[in-house]
Amino acid sequence: MCSFMTPSPKLGESISKWGYTFTWTDKHPSKEQIEPLRQEYDTLGAIALQRIQSIRSSMLEESKVKGTSPPTNDHYTILLNHHTEDEILTQFWDECHAVPEWVNWEQLERGQRFFFRYAIANIVGFALQGFVAENSAAPGVVEVLVRTGSFSTRMLLKRLLETFQWLIQVTHDLAAIRPGGEGHVATIRVRLLHASVRQRILRLCQAKPDYFNIDRYGIPVNTLDSIHSITTFSCNPMWLQLPKFGIKPSSGEIEDYIALFRYLAYLLGTPTSYFKTIEDSKRTMESMLVYELLTTETSRVVAYNFVECVAHLPAPVHVSRKFIEAGSRWINGGELCDELELGRPGYFYYVAFAGYCMFVFGLALLQQLIPRIDTLVIKLFRQLLHREIVQRERSRFDFKHVPHTGKTIGKERYDPNAAKACKYPPYLNYTFYDITDIGYFELVCFAVTVFVVLLVGSVIGIWLWV
Ligand code: HEM
Repeated sequence: MCSFMTPSPKLGESISKWGYTFTWTDKHPSKEQIEPLRQEYDTLGAIALQRIQSIRSSMLEESKVKGTSPPTNDHYTILLNHHTEDEILTQFWDECHAVPEWVNWEQLERGQRFFFRYAIANIVGFALQGFVAENSAAPGVVEVLVRTGSFSTRMLLKRLLETFQWLIQVTHDLAAIRPGGEGHVATIRVRLLHASVRQRILRLCQAKPDYFNIDRYGIPVNTLDSIHSITTFSCNPMWLQLPKFGIKPSSGEIEDYIALFRYLAYLLGTPTSYFKTIEDSKRTMESMLVYELLTTETSRVVAYNFVECVAHLPAPVHVSRKFIEAGSRWINGGELCDELELGRPGYFYYVAFAGYCMFVFGLALLQQLIPRIDTLVIKLFRQLLHREIVQRERSRFDFKHVPHTGKTIGKERYDPNAAKACKYPPYLNYTFYDITDIGYFELVCFAVTVFVVLLVGSVIGIWLWV
């Protein structure tokens, strides 16, 4: 059984991990409760995938005999066209299209708005906390991720964007997540993609048992890892990310957003009982913090490649490596970032990141005070992100980085000449940026801090003088 689990905390014990403190209770999911989930997985999704593959093989044979073009290799299309002909596919289809009685569409719609209300904080929070800290320090999850090759510096950005694409699709509007909607279909595709990842790794393990340590990490993409991922998407913004920007979501907002992810968990074949109430969800997140997070050499690889990739985004979103490191240290604390071997930037970068937080906080305050601004911000980000991320290049979530034995990812320097690397616009090579690496965005953030400090200083000065 897994050895990266720490011993169970004592009842009433105060636990501090990476800047977050809470008290352990007998209601927190215990080690004994969660450990068996590592060997469980979405079995219906797995056999549905096998049925889809076997239908495709028959179609392929038929097309060879008839000399017609080969059938589609899009699993969802085969499911759509054949779900009535096969008992398992009918069961899978019906499960994905049934709406659990606890679903309240109005609540889910409010949950969708939450994502766009705090879009800039949610995106940076997801990248710096959800990805750098939570994902890279979850040993079982990273071991799967590095085997799919999608953590190489060339592919990481594309992967992050695809995950955002899914997030934007499932938060776009209610029609998107109702059965048959764009986000609903995308989620079924992701469920089948997870089944493909698991199937591929398990097959490689049959031929080469040491390819993936199932005793230690469990079945690839197992139930425990999936519950953990749902907490990362839905709970971490509430307690580990937004508060670091000075935003405290209301209990209504928390309830709505978690309800949305409870429904998405259902569609992904992940148990939903852990997300019944705010309290259940928070305790699940806290148990994951205790039992499931430990930095390993692979975590350092993933964190390194992440910084390497994001620090090479083109203008106008370009930010320096040091700004990313300052942001990570601000959100995740020094202890974890030292473990991940992130650099220690100078004060300038913290001042710039503080400016970013002030901007995010100021905007959230304005939205809370003036509902019209709130509506405007939600509408703006909803349209902007859908246009720039979903409409620009819609992914079908195919299985792109098929694992092979011997293929895994190590620390990689960003290579600007690599075919798929994100390129700098040429002028960046000849300007101020080449010397300082500081992007427009950081400069604006720095200016915000200077402005706020001068403003507050002047107000205090006038007040003392009067
Ligand atoms: C249950 C919550 C989860 C959600 C909402 C989720 C979401 C997604 C999404 C949106 C994608 C497609 C975009 C992309 O390639 O990044 C994806 C792909 C992927 N997910 Fe998940 N995921 C979850 C759980 C997990 C877990 C627990 C693992 C592994 C332990 C995992 C491993 C993967 C892998 C390896 C791929 C990429 C496959 C490829 O290379 O094409 N996911 N996931």
